[in-house]
Amino acid sequence: MQEVAALQSQALVEVQSASSTSDLKELKIKFLGNNGLISSKLREVGAYQGDKKAFGQAVNAAKKAVEDALDAREADLKGGEMAAQFEAERIDVTMPARATRVGYEHVLQQTTNKIKRVLSGLGFEYQESREIETVGYNFGALNYPPDHPAMDDQDTFYIDDDYLLRTQCTDLQGHIFEEVRDGKRTLPLRVFTVGRTYRNEAVDRTHSHTFHQVDCFMVDEKVSMANLKGTLGLFARQMFGKDVTVRFRPDFFPFVEPGVDYAISTPKLFDGRWVELGGAGLIHPNIFEAYEVDTEKYSGFAFGLGVERIPMMSYGVDDLRHFMENDLRFLEQFKAEPVELS
Ligand code: FA5
Repeated sequence: MQEVAALQSQALVEVQSASSTSDLKELKIKFLGNNGLISSKLREVGAYQGDKKAFGQAVNAAKKAVEDALDAREADLKGGEMAAQFEAERIDVTMPARATRVGYEHVLQQTTNKIKRVLSGLGFEYQESREIETVGYNFGALNYPPDHPAMDDQDTFYIDDDYLLRTQCTDLQGHIFEEVRDGKRTLPLRVFTVGRTYRNEAVDRTHSHTFHQVDCFMVDEKVSMANLKGTLGLFARQMFGKDVTVRFRPDFFPFVEPGVDYAISTPKLFDGRWVELGGAGLIHPNIFEAYEVDTEKYSGFAFGLGVERIPMMSYGVDDLRHFMENDLRFLEQFKAEPVELS
């Protein structure tokens, strides 16, 4: 009996002097665990020589007293520990915030957005096309005879005999005309795409192996060079302002007849020199015939322009390599509108 009382007071002293909740856990095991000093006394009740009932009651009372002491001490310590944790993790809400850097779209993306706005405004429908393309859509569908030297104008990155990295966004035409032939799309149509193009070319101030083009075409009744020149004149004024002048000179592309090159000049830049933006013309009758379009009724125009040349002409950038190098000192000069949701 005395032994139980001694254990109880030893336990209470130890609980009182515990300095953390993890110490308390250990004390709980030491005294009240399965083989704890107090719990094991319960197992001695049967063999107790004397008043078994009183002995059992004393053990249970000791157990209860230690449990209560553990609970009380735990509540005390927890409060203190939380206060210490709050203090350690304290956030100073009065500290000045770190400045966030605001991003802007790349100048080529801003140009692409503007092209999309202008051509959509003129009634053209935007279509995505493929950067990995078949030789068929990149050349065959566009009236290049097999092995024709015109293909050498666009030195090509071939993936294998059938696939290549598209050299021009005009690759979209074959896909769209196929939809017309298969009855999935009806005439008239006005379509354009903007995207990345690749040519195995030496890089210089105006050429890169990777660049962007916008390609646009329209098929309707009575489409003529007048419509093409009107559209490209309007496009130039919307992209560059009313001071721009446009020039068309005869040129050859297998997929148009007649074909022209399209250049612009603005008085303020590059001493008013002409800069070629791309090629254009009336869609070749061979293409219409290949896709069963009635050439008695329909005609069309097409044009394809280099995207990099547009900001070069808008801002007087004299080397297109700047667009690819991602030097913030260059790019930060084109902080236009914050990111558009499109
Ligand atoms: C074409 O790619 C024709 N598909 C354009 C076309 C479409 C003609 C529809 C008729 C009808 P060209 O190879 O000239 O044409 O390229 C068009 C424009 O892309 C060039 O004027 C130039 O602005 C740009 N370009 C061509 N090669 C590069 C290059 N390596 N780096 C940067 N821009 C280039």
